Amino acid sequence: MAEFQPLVFSGVQPTGNLHLGNYLGAIRKFVALQDEHDCIYCVVDLHALTAQLVHEDMKGQIRSIAAAFIASGIDPKKHIVFNQSAVPQHAELAWIFNCVARIGWMNRMTQFKDKAGKDRENASLGLFAYPSLMAADILVYRATHVPVGDDQKQHLELTRDIAQKFNIDFSEHIRRTGLGVDIVVGEEPVHAYFPPVEPLIGGPAPRVMSLRDGTKKMSKSDASDLSRINLMDDADAISKKFRKAKTDPDALPGETEGLAGRPEADNLVGIYAALSDRTKADVLAEFGGQQFSVFKPALIDLAVATLSPITAEMRRLMDDTRHIDAILRDGAERAGARAEKTMNEVRDIVGFLR
Ligand code: TYM
Repeated sequence: MAEFQPLVFSGVQPTGNLHLGNYLGAIRKFVALQDEHDCIYCVVDLHALTAQLVHEDMKGQIRSIAAAFIASGIDPKKHIVFNQSAVPQHAELAWIFNCVARIGWMNRMTQFKDKAGKDRENASLGLFAYPSLMAADILVYRATHVPVGDDQKQHLELTRDIAQKFNIDFSEHIRRTGLGVDIVVGEEPVHAYFPPVEPLIGGPAPRVMSLRDGTKKMSKSDASDLSRINLMDDADAISKKFRKAKTDPDALPGETEGLAGRPEADNLVGIYAALSDRTKADVLAEFGGQQFSVFKPALIDLAVATLSPITAEMRRLMDDTRHIDAILRDGAERAGARAEKTMNEVRDIVGFLR
């Protein structure tokens, strides 16, 4: 039985400062995957319009995400780094997916509900269709694995639903064109054009929480800068934010069960574990019984040692815009060739006259 070629794809929006949640939930995983996989990493500038239509410095934001990828260790020669709008096939496939996906599916997206807030009638159609473009980003490469933070889980389930519905709706055409692959999904043999996408969400920090409130996600949009560590923060800022981070009065437990009901302690231990590529159990085996007055300085040292070289390299890269732009152009060319191959096949499957 044939299989889909394994391929990793993920994207980050160029909206505001990247923070530790983006780094631990996504970018650090991108780096870890590149030794064993073919990877495509995208700055999703089309998606950025759904957060805010007019951007003061869109080009600078795009470059800064690309710089963060490269400064974190992604090799843009071995893999592909580019910005979404430079490969128009994403938008073309998204249109077809808009016609595959159902309004009922979109209505269930919790991120749409959160972002649209109370005034849903006034939210943009783009924000509503956001997950359909995300599915197109992934499937225009027929990518199989997608590293993301936990908040993207529902969007990836929707991506699977869209792929599955396309495969079923067009099954006759897929057979006729000879473009499908025989795979097994669950127990079922399926003839598929698009693969069932696997989310890669695990690790000790799939959802990094706010430093001010362990029940809220660390986010670019939080009004308090103290709630997050930005990738551009210097050592003083990192130290200050962790020192001020909310905790409880108890010592750290010796085992992970002891973190239940202690969201702030759980978050800081998760951050430490993710930064040091260890498990939370391993970190607690070392720090169990210690007060935060001991744990926080160790966490600050680790965070500064890990993030400072990345921040310095990001600054250096962002000073050389021609270099970054050349990397993005080269990435878009290579991504575009792959995306066009898929779109040629999709146009055939759908039956467009060419
Ligand atoms: P964005 O830019 O909002 O977030 C980029 C990545 O960072 C992760 N993330 C977090 N992880 C852990 N803890 C947090 N507090 C935290 N905050 C953010 C996100 O899960 C994400 O992995 N929709 C995507 C962008 C996208 C995409 C795609 C991703 C567009 N097309 C295709 C994968 C595949 C997003 O929200 O990005």
